[in-house]
Amino acid sequence: MARYSNIFGAFEIDSMPGQSQVAVCHSFVVPEENRGKGYGHTLKAYQDAEIGIQHYDFAICTVAAQNARQKRILTVAGWRHLTSFRNRRTCETTELWGREETVTKDKSHE
Ligand SMILES: CC(C)(COP(=O)(O)OP(=O)(O)OC[C@H]1O[C@@H](n2cnc3c(N)ncnc32)[C@H](O)[C@@H]1OP(=O)(O)O)[C@@H](O)C(=O)NCCC(=O)NCCS
Repeated sequence: MARYSNIFGAFEIDSMPGQSQVAVCHSFVVPEENRGKGYGHTLKAYQDAEIGIQHYDFAICTVAAQNARQKRILTVAGWRHLTSFRNRRTCETTELWGREETVTKDKSHE
């Protein structure tokens, strides 16, 4: 498990057990006093950059269905809703989101 933190907030990235090309993203948070200022978008850009640096091929996260702010952040960052399920722990609907990482070909040696 790796925890990342900067002035915008914090997040964590784990490799999926048994499939280490999948990044499991979680614990994404902007401190309460800084919310509503666009920091979530910026923090997401840091997370997605880290996913690229680590050469993952696919990234997933879960989000509560009613968490409109986080879903807006995911949508703007190019993530997509994969499926939803009824969560018996939270008694709410939880959504699974993901994004396939695109490999940029290095043309510097051509
Ligand atoms: C979710 C969270 C990270 C958002 O961070 P934030 O810095 O407040 O978000 P931003 O200011 O970057 O705004 C996010 C977007 O949500 C939009 N938004 C805000 N309230 C909204 C609402 N009720 N419905 C729809 N969109 C909404 C904003 O307009 C903004 O989109 P835009 O820039 O395109 O206009 C923050 O609220 C948080 O840490 N919450 C607690 C932890 C959490 O829920 N983490 C996610 C776990 S999956």
